[in-house]
Amino acid sequence: CAHFGVAPSILSADFLHMADDIVKIEDAGARVIHVDVMDGHFVPNLTMGIPLIKQLKPFARIPLDVHLMIDNPLVQLPWFLRAGSDIVTIHAETLNASDTISAIELIHENGAAAGVSIKPHTPLDVLKPYIAQLDQVLVMSVEPGFSGQGYIEGSEQRVSEIRAMGNEHGVSHLCIEVDGGINRDTVARVARAGANRVVCGSAVFGADDMGAELQEIERRGAA
Ligand code: DX5
Ligand code: ZN
Repeated sequence: CAHFGVAPSILSADFLHMADDIVKIEDAGARVIHVDVMDGHFVPNLTMGIPLIKQLKPFARIPLDVHLMIDNPLVQLPWFLRAGSDIVTIHAETLNASDTISAIELIHENGAAAGVSIKPHTPLDVLKPYIAQLDQVLVMSVEPGFSGQGYIEGSEQRVSEIRAMGNEHGVSHLCIEVDGGINRDTVARVARAGANRVVCGSAVFGADDMGAELQEIERRGAA
């Protein structure tokens, strides 16, 4: 996560031509493949899961960044790890602090990177007990559940507060990824606030030239 980059969310890809879309975004310089897993309980929507990750793993040339929007991730974490997830992000709202720490440890024991995501109205203080152990914080800039929503104004303020919290806790290397409504117009403000990765669903996969759009978003974020 050292250099600013884009994490395309394949929730917005063409499911019947997934392999072609992945090659395009890899060739354009995508850093990771963002996989939005929704269970129909933590969020209303139902998307993709373990069988897809198992097939993606040997095909993908870049890491799989798995965003678990599921209740009680402790039950399913071992399966997602075994399927080949490289970065696993759970939601802060689903577990108490001590169970979140157990989840982070389990992810690390399996050689993956650990992330925690927070919804737009979750107080940032929840991160304090474990931020020092995290590789990534995923800041939601929309209510999780659907792609194609508008960026919630002011989310960049939460990014800068998390960056400051990370620095206070000695994790200046923390990857801060922002997810929801990021496009060529919103990327600069989150990057300036300290984000080093942005998730893009509809902005990239909805573009006529998805590779060029990805590169333009990255260029504006890195500027
Ligand atoms: C929302 C998901 C996002 C979403 C991004 O719950 O976590 O990753 O698919 O889509 P866009 O970029 O269209 O907001
Ligand atoms: Zn996501």
